Amino acid sequence: MKPIVFLTRTLPPAVMERLERETGLAVHAENRPATNDEIIAGAEGRNALLCTVTDRIDAALLDACPSLKVIANFGVGYNHIDVAAATARKIAVTNTPGVLTDATADLAFALLLATARRLGEGERIVRARQWKGWGPLEMLGAELNGAALGIVGFGRIGRAVACRARGFGMRVIYWNRTRLSSADETACDATYATLDELLKTADFISLHVAYTPETHHLIGDEQLSLMKPTAYLINTARGAIIDERALVRALQSRRIAGAGLDVFEHEPQIEPELFDFENVVLIPHLGSATIATRTRMGMIAVDNLLAVCAGGRPPNCVNPEVFS
Ligand code: DGY
Repeated sequence: MKPIVFLTRTLPPAVMERLERETGLAVHAENRPATNDEIIAGAEGRNALLCTVTDRIDAALLDACPSLKVIANFGVGYNHIDVAAATARKIAVTNTPGVLTDATADLAFALLLATARRLGEGERIVRARQWKGWGPLEMLGAELNGAALGIVGFGRIGRAVACRARGFGMRVIYWNRTRLSSADETACDATYATLDELLKTADFISLHVAYTPETHHLIGDEQLSLMKPTAYLINTARGAIIDERALVRALQSRRIAGAGLDVFEHEPQIEPELFDFENVVLIPHLGSATIATRTRMGMIAVDNLLAVCAGGRPPNCVNPEVFS
């Protein structure tokens, strides 16, 4: 018996072909997130739900889908899923760690460079046909070589960002809930700092913590006030790690030099005032957006759901207690 799966968005072609081959598949094929009513209708009588970051999987939805055995998330972050509610109903929740590390680290670095060197602003000038030509004082930005990069959250992605930073001659300081061993710190060429020290000393700050109740608004008025007025804040993790209203206030008062944001507190809505700042680069949640990475994410999500439906343990379970 093939597992019967409801998929909330069309995935890359190789993943779709595998799902068609190995499962009984129904898809919400529209190019927009499914509503919760659509997910409930689609998942009725099915064993597996393959969902994405834009779906809100809450207790009410789980109550309406009693046949589900597994929620396979297409992505590493799973703050959009009520894991406690799934665990209480013995539903396994899985994610796709590891395979999007490099794509996300690349994107964080692209955003850091774009912010430091004012690429968004420059492109807007050129496209508006307003460019008057090269000038010795035109569009001067910040230099990476010799600058201190503060990495907040030193897991897989934070460390991959640190590797890239070394190639640009940056000095890496990090803050993490658990400090690394001194051997790991030496291997990563990174110096530990408290969050406050990091905020006070870094020239660029890049966020790589998971979004949890503890990291909600980790960066607010107080933290922004510690940053150097010449420093930049980069976020490719989750929007609500930053208090967006506090960020607007910090930018308005020129407390910081600029920000590069790939994620937002209320996606796809963006705090309207953020559009007004030339020194803010805004991009639409592109961290894992390469065809190779999205294909690997899809394949891992399928591995996870097939394992559960076959009665086994999935390779990437975030609530393994459902199997005890
Ligand atoms: C993730 O995996 O958490 C990403 O944000 C979704 O691409």
